[in-house]
Amino acid sequence: MRVTHLQLSDFRSYGSLDLELGPGVTTFVGRNGQGKTNLVEAVRYLSTLSSHRVASDAPLLRFGAERAVIGARLEKNGRALSLEVTLQQGRQNTARLNRGQARPRDLVGILRTVVFAPEDLALVKGDPAGRRQLMDELVVALHPALAGDLSDYDRVLRQRGSMLKTARNARGDMTMLDIWDEKLAHLGGRIVAARRQAVAALAPYVLEAYADVAPEGGSCVLSYSTALDKPVNRDDAEVEPLSPQAAPDEIENRLLERLRALRSQEIDRGVNLAGPHRDDLDITLGDMPAKGYASHGESWSCALALRLGAYALLTAEGGPDGDPDGEPVLILDDVFAELDSGRRAALARRLTSARQVLITAAVGEDVPEELAAHPAGSATVKVRRDDDRLTLAVRDA
Ligand SMILES: Nc1ncnc2c1ncn2[C@@H]1O[C@H](COP(=O)(O)OP(=O)(O)O)[C@@H](O)[C@H]1O
Ligand SMILES: [Mg+2]
Repeated sequence: MRVTHLQLSDFRSYGSLDLELGPGVTTFVGRNGQGKTNLVEAVRYLSTLSSHRVASDAPLLRFGAERAVIGARLEKNGRALSLEVTLQQGRQNTARLNRGQARPRDLVGILRTVVFAPEDLALVKGDPAGRRQLMDELVVALHPALAGDLSDYDRVLRQRGSMLKTARNARGDMTMLDIWDEKLAHLGGRIVAARRQAVAALAPYVLEAYADVAPEGGSCVLSYSTALDKPVNRDDAEVEPLSPQAAPDEIENRLLERLRALRSQEIDRGVNLAGPHRDDLDITLGDMPAKGYASHGESWSCALALRLGAYALLTAEGGPDGDPDGEPVLILDDVFAELDSGRRAALARRLTSARQVLITAAVGEDVPEELAAHPAGSATVKVRRDDDRLTLAVRDA
């Protein structure tokens, strides 16, 4: 699939914008602060209804504006589709699909994107929440129906959490907690199984991408790390790790057992102590964990390889339900400045078969010439902020 047209009004720094986008590689070049990331952020927003930079919608509305509109036309399986979302200050967002009213969540996943941005360094260096989010995004991209399990799980965690807090003062009847344990374990088993499967599918693609883009080559190995494979308490005997093929109900049973064993600790502390919200994605470079050991350059390459790997996996798998046109739009925000010329060329080679790639760069010279040779074409868009308008110049006609 690809985006053929992007339309913004009062989004971030853009008063209004109308932009045609071609297939192949489009590079947005402009000095810092000119609105390059704002543009690609809008594309990403339409695919997930969330920004890759901020957790709330407020900063996406042009400062002082009441509403912002992001619209796009897509070409998917040879058909034209149009998506539009309106973000409103202090009100529910609204959406349109092919000009008819739609619920915003009906738009999620129609446009598929994979975004790499400098913030992704936190995937390697930061806390596990970012890595869990990476896994969950991949799970949903591979199996959209699991989005419901993930949001149900969040709700169960919140409600069970408040029940644990009150249970301390109301010792005695634990039947309600038993019911919440079952819900948590059931959803948790499905989520852990799906994440493990997604990580196993992703790992070979990340290994290959890292070897391409890392300064020294080498290996980047992923594995799913679950607290269920570790003893409940530090002094307890080792537990038999779950097999990588463990079915959801086997994981569910183990999780339920774990909740029984942890009950008094959970009530004492008033928090949910077991489940996929405590798990992590382990990333190993060579023999060492990436987090805490890898250099800045290695961590950065590793973060890029995670995204390039996800893009390669989603492209290979096609879209959900056998959609033959599920290849995501690849967005690379500020990627080339950090790479030496050899790695730039290696990255460019990986992009030559991509259907559509959107790249931002502060310095045009950082973008390798090889990209101009993309079979579907390439264009450079100069982003200048003075009049909120873009000048479009096609390179190497
Ligand atoms: N909600 C907003 N309203 C108006 N301007 C904004 C808003 N959010 C960001 N900006 C402007 O956008 C600029 C950043 O644009 P960005 O796309 O991140 O730049 P870059 O070209 O470096 O990627 C900031 O300097 C800020 O002035
Ligand atoms: Mg930027």
